[in-house]
Amino acid sequence: MRAPDTGGRGLFVSFEGIDGSGKSTQARLLFEHLTALGHDAILTREPGGSAGAEQIRALVLSGDVDRWSPETELLLFTAARRDHLERTIRPALAAGRIVICDRFADSTRMYQGLRGPGLRRCVEALHDLMIAQEPDLTLLIDMEAGTGLSRAIERGGGEDRFEAFGGDLQAAMRQGFLALAKEFAPRFRVIDGARDIDAVAQDVRAAVAERLA
Ligand code: ADP
Ligand code: TYD
Repeated sequence: MRAPDTGGRGLFVSFEGIDGSGKSTQARLLFEHLTALGHDAILTREPGGSAGAEQIRALVLSGDVDRWSPETELLLFTAARRDHLERTIRPALAAGRIVICDRFADSTRMYQGLRGPGLRRCVEALHDLMIAQEPDLTLLIDMEAGTGLSRAIERGGGEDRFEAFGGDLQAAMRQGFLALAKEFAPRFRVIDGARDIDAVAQDVRAAVAERLA
């Protein structure tokens, strides 16, 4: 069963990148910037962004590394995304709003899709069946894996199940995200995240301004 179309009147912007790359910081700054300019924007995140999806978030982001298999994780993240789409993203887009989302389906392509043979194919199949929506613009905050991981560990917060997979997986993710940016080139912009917050924010604003124009 395919998900219904939104009519697509708003603008859907996602942030992607490895843990600690600065996505949440940049998503919040973009939201504040657009709101100050008078745009009608919402700031949301995955996993989460709706009441049910936030409950699933608590299940997937805490506990032992092997609490869920990659396949079960894929189902949980997809269930959370479907609820987030139905209740938060599609209504906002249909109302013409700008949706700023901290992670979306590209995170599943990487974090679940890279963890076993054949899993990327399962991710795409489930995505086509249950989600069938891509952002209009995806901002990849790119940086070397060690820097991102140490930022994420320093930040703390207890939602550390994925950080616990370690540096090698984060390095593979970084390369994977860069490959995705080529695969889906029309919607991706790659932004160098290894600079101060303001420099990164300026590039983010420029990419969104170009898309809004
Ligand atoms: P993500 O959402 O990608 O995991 P965050 O935005 O939470 O990343 O940032 C991770 C940590 O790094 C936070 O403590 C944040 O304050 C810090 N941080 C974010 N951007 C930068 C930057 N450009 N330079 C240095 N530290 C940063
Ligand atoms: P997030 O809170 O964005 O973490 P961080 O701020 O450290 O980047 O996301 C939490 C974790 O969930 C992150 O390690 C990536 C993982 N994740 C998946 O594995 N699959 C998914 O589909 C999504 C959206 C996130």
